[in-house]
Amino acid sequence: MKIEVIDVHYSYPDGTPALQGVSLELRSGEVVSLLGPNGSGKSTLLLILAGLIEPLSGEVLLNGERISSLGTRYRKMCGILFQDPVDQLLAPIVEEDVSIGPRQLDLPEEEIKDRVESVLLRLGIIDIRGKSPYKISYGQAAKVALAGLLAQDPDIYLLDEPSSSLDLYGVSFLIELIQELRDQGKIIVVASQDSELVAEISDRVYLLDRGRVVSAGKPDRVLTDIEMLTSIGIRPPTTVRIFSKVFPNAKEIPVREEDLIRKIRDFLYLVLENR
Ligand SMILES: Nc1ncnc2c1ncn2[C@@H]1O[C@H](COP(=O)(O)OP(=O)(O)OP(=O)(O)O)[C@@H](O)[C@H]1O
Ligand SMILES: [Mg+2]
Repeated sequence: MKIEVIDVHYSYPDGTPALQGVSLELRSGEVVSLLGPNGSGKSTLLLILAGLIEPLSGEVLLNGERISSLGTRYRKMCGILFQDPVDQLLAPIVEEDVSIGPRQLDLPEEEIKDRVESVLLRLGIIDIRGKSPYKISYGQAAKVALAGLLAQDPDIYLLDEPSSSLDLYGVSFLIELIQELRDQGKIIVVASQDSELVAEISDRVYLLDRGRVVSAGKPDRVLTDIEMLTSIGIRPPTTVRIFSKVFPNAKEIPVREEDLIRKIRDFLYLVLENR
């Protein structure tokens, strides 16, 4: 499966330009992050990818076919996690809310129940299954919204700032989950301004600023460009900031925590061996 976004422009009805010629490519089994400051167009791009708004010009193709011509068939393949979980909550009870997605797929009632129960368990929110989604905490609401998406089990996951209201366990779970979905061959797009999360999960990163892609590529290229990141208001990952201060002349800068630890260990062994 392949999605191509070709030279997409979008302005909101009040005239605000949000995307000014964005092109990108997404493939199955790949995690792609959209990293950019406030107002750079990340959420707008996810809405376009979900087929919820149409570009003013340019096109979005799924395996070479325009998504607008695929209509609801395409929209059913997509699951979007809105930036504000409250926008996602529709039913009066958590459990019902989580079952909206699978119900739209016309699954048998038993299967819907099983799916809902298993995602609520996995996300650690089974105890609030009978509560109103408006009488739970914000982070719990974010988990309910994510649970709904997982129960739907779409082919394309569009996640808008999925880590922003999660605690440490929540974020670890999210990272694990994203890796699992990648292994299942899903298309996964994560919009975020959290470079730490982006560093841990991404196969490729598109850096957005004022509706344009200003840099794109593998995380070890995009996320190590401290000058570019800071110039648009994105804090480079801690790994990159620390390593480049300690080793200002290093050619390879580690992006993931695991890689930083390995580099420090290698360096220490080298020092000890040469004593
Ligand atoms: N409903 C709307 N009507 C008019 N303008 C909008 C609307 N939603 C967003 N915009 C504008 O579109 C541009 C892109 O916004 P978007 O929400 O896509 O940015 P973002 O990268 O997701 O930002 P954030 O990090 O704050 O979530 C901004 O200039 C914003 O003010
Ligand atoms: Mg946004």
